[in-house]
Amino acid sequence: MRIQVLGAAAGGGYPQWNCNHPNSRKARNGEAQARTQSSIAVSADGTHWFLCNASPDLRRQIELTPALQPPAGGALRCSPIQGAVLTNADVDHVAGLLNLRESQPLSLYGTQRVLDVLAANSIFNVLNPQFVRRVPMQLESPLALQLPDGSPAGLEVVPFAVPGKVALWLEDPARGKNLGTEAGDTIALEVRAAGGEHFYYVPGCAELPATLAERLRGAPLVFFDGTLWQDDEMIRDGVGVKTGARMGHISLSGPNGTLQAFAGLDVARKILIHINTTNPVLLEHSPERREVEQAGWEVSYDGMVIELTP
Ligand code: MLT
Ligand code: MN
Repeated sequence: MRIQVLGAAAGGGYPQWNCNHPNSRKARNGEAQARTQSSIAVSADGTHWFLCNASPDLRRQIELTPALQPPAGGALRCSPIQGAVLTNADVDHVAGLLNLRESQPLSLYGTQRVLDVLAANSIFNVLNPQFVRRVPMQLESPLALQLPDGSPAGLEVVPFAVPGKVALWLEDPARGKNLGTEAGDTIALEVRAAGGEHFYYVPGCAELPATLAERLRGAPLVFFDGTLWQDDEMIRDGVGVKTGARMGHISLSGPNGTLQAFAGLDVARKILIHINTTNPVLLEHSPERREVEQAGWEVSYDGMVIELTP
């Protein structure tokens, strides 16, 4: 199974368009590596690809990724992209669908909640409903991904709920403290290939309860929410008013942070993704980068390729 990171940054990207934080300045002047918004692509055969989330930067990501471009000698209209699997309705995870216009056969997988959000907004009909199948995923039910012609893609996903909250743009303060969040508003995926190789994709997660930790224990590969280094980082740095907890994101550092929570879980490869523009791990020479690397983490970047073998 082949995995390619299309975008390693959180919503807004790195640098975010209106951000003048020192980190963003470093990305603009070449002192740090810029990153587009959160998405990976997965393929069992290196030819047919599925997106896990569709970032607003998808058009650029395709242009930077030959494997996702129409092949020489292919039909006049064609794409290696066979479909997309959505983990929530975040702008950074669904807005890119609009790039996948128009009459291209695709399969779109999401929970019924997320599919309902798309159905309620007719702009998503630019993915012509005559060609694009929308397939509801049931939590904890393995689902074989299919090519648009119905044949098996050689990949199976198991969607499961993780702690989080409803997408920012769907928050409803009238629905109480949790802003209308329902179970399954944030999910993660286990992706499996026929040979038994598998990995976990967890781009958003608010905490790591014991059940989730046990699920990930011993995994060969986990992509995990790397949004913030510190819960109040955006407030401290003067670029925002929200904590990570308020945004539904666990932080890397601290007693309940990701580094502590994964210590001893024996995950072979641990990779941070969905990294916010304020996170000092984006800077290659920062003490925070050293600390995550010493704890066995990799910081993903656009174009990172991983081959998983059975
Ligand atoms: C998130 O991951 O919390 C969202 O992408 C936030 C946003 O939409 O800016
Ligand atoms: Mn996000």
